[in-house]
Amino acid sequence: MKQRLELKLNGEMREVFVEPWRTLAEVLRDELGLLGTKVSCGTGDCGACNVLLEGKVVSSCLVLAPQAQGREILTIEGLATPEGLHPLQEAFIEHFAVQCGYCIPGMIITAKACLDENPDATEDEVRLAMSGNLCRCTGYVKVTEAIMAAKEKMKKSVSGTGYGKGR
Ligand code: FES
Ligand code: FES
Repeated sequence: MKQRLELKLNGEMREVFVEPWRTLAEVLRDELGLLGTKVSCGTGDCGACNVLLEGKVVSSCLVLAPQAQGREILTIEGLATPEGLHPLQEAFIEHFAVQCGYCIPGMIITAKACLDENPDATEDEVRLAMSGNLCRCTGYVKVTEAIMAAKEKMKKSVSGTGYGKGR
């Protein structure tokens, strides 16, 4: 039997009716049409499905949809604004950190959580934060470079228009 859920998804309240055994990843992709969140391993090992739940990184393939009832979720689709891409998205492009792109939404979501928690993260801290995100086709050097570059841009803009924790 389907259950009614209300999710605060990328800043908007969304209503969805789903069976209680479905994962958050399935609901985001199959019911809400947000295909940016990828599913690869389905067992919590690769980070491709990472989203922020109340600001914390979760593997959405391991979260049952009812566990997200009434809670705030940020997916990759929630990062850009009408004014432009998020600095992390820009930096991944500028630093050639993307090949096939399948792992990238999860990478960027994890990187955002890392920099939200620690805006002065060192390269080692970034590498540690990203260690649960696997990429099958590129190395991790350019990914780390991109995140470090985005960090500087985000720090500069915090006092201006800002990329605070909300985005
Ligand atoms: S698909 Fe969820 S962690 Fe790999
Ligand atoms: S860019 Fe292809 S899996 Fe990471």
